[in-house]
Amino acid sequence: MNRILLLPGDGIGPEVVREARAVLELVSRRFDLKLEFEEALIGGSAIDAEETPLSDATVARARECQAVLLGAVGGPKWDDMPVDIRPEKGLLRIRKELGLFANLRPASVFPALAAASSLRPEIVDGIDLLVVRELTGGIYFGEPRGRATVEGTREARNTMVYDEHEVARITRVAFEAAQGRRQHLTHVHKANVLDVSQLWMDVVEEVARDFPDVELAHQLVDSCAMLLVREPARFDVIVTGNLFGDILSDEAAMITGSLGMLPSASLGEGGVGLFEPVHGSAPDIAGQDVANPLATILSVAMLCEHSLGASEAARAIEAAVTGVLEDGHRTGDLVLGDENVETIGCTEMGERVREKLS
Ligand code: IPM
Ligand code: MG
Repeated sequence: MNRILLLPGDGIGPEVVREARAVLELVSRRFDLKLEFEEALIGGSAIDAEETPLSDATVARARECQAVLLGAVGGPKWDDMPVDIRPEKGLLRIRKELGLFANLRPASVFPALAAASSLRPEIVDGIDLLVVRELTGGIYFGEPRGRATVEGTREARNTMVYDEHEVARITRVAFEAAQGRRQHLTHVHKANVLDVSQLWMDVVEEVARDFPDVELAHQLVDSCAMLLVREPARFDVIVTGNLFGDILSDEAAMITGSLGMLPSASLGEGGVGLFEPVHGSAPDIAGQDVANPLATILSVAMLCEHSLGASEAARAIEAAVTGVLEDGHRTGDLVLGDENVETIGCTEMGERVREKLS
């Protein structure tokens, strides 16, 4: 049996995971994937029930599984808590504990959704990029960190630190991804200011020698943010550190139409993979059955591909999502302000995808 751990989390997490799980159950039967599901708490719901955003017991269970499917964490209820015990800490901890250093965030346009982008259609046309974000290092985890009051003045610090091995292994993942795509890799950095980025430059260049078939470019992070709205189709694979990757992947998602469409995979050296939508817990719409489950459903496709070796199932899920969008079905996030389109809810969107699949 392949064990799948579900961590629905907070906000819209439980609703989107419920729809994605039903999709996974369906493809499990159709492609004989022999899946077995279990569920545990993470984030705010874990704080409320277990007094920690991620318990040791849940980490131990995750290690025994083939893959983890996560919804989202966080919400206003826990917003005033110190960073060390907030819901987000649960997410950071599970990434770190499972050694998931490589975060893959593909952003491409579904032609049926081109109109939902805030960019002009001719600019959106052809967007098909992959952000490879380093996920277990950098300023998210660096020490020293913390807040203090020094001689009556409040101060705070975080540390951006990478060693050459951390940079080399994520760079390899990105080059390998580029080999299977359009053979172009953009390394995003801030080497005009940061020592850390200068190390990345050196290491990326060294790793590049093993991948002569891939064209490498270096791009400053600020100008990359600009180019992503000006000429997004020029990008194939982007590799960058934890913080820049967090920011640019939201931007990349939005230019394709909606943050509600972007899936992600977090992988390490073998072992268990973690799959989650890039969007957050959206507490403002939680529990109203209006969330878009497609990013989580597409994350399930990535789970099939990367953790189960079931590419056929992955392609079937993607085709079903494409089909549903081509039929004109939309959740609220996929409709721009002035468009007059009827929208459907989270449950119905999930049902439509499953209809297409069966
Ligand atoms: C993401 C999220 C997380 C991150 C938060 C919730 C900690 O924004 O997965 O992109 O910053 O990594
Ligand atoms: Mg983010």
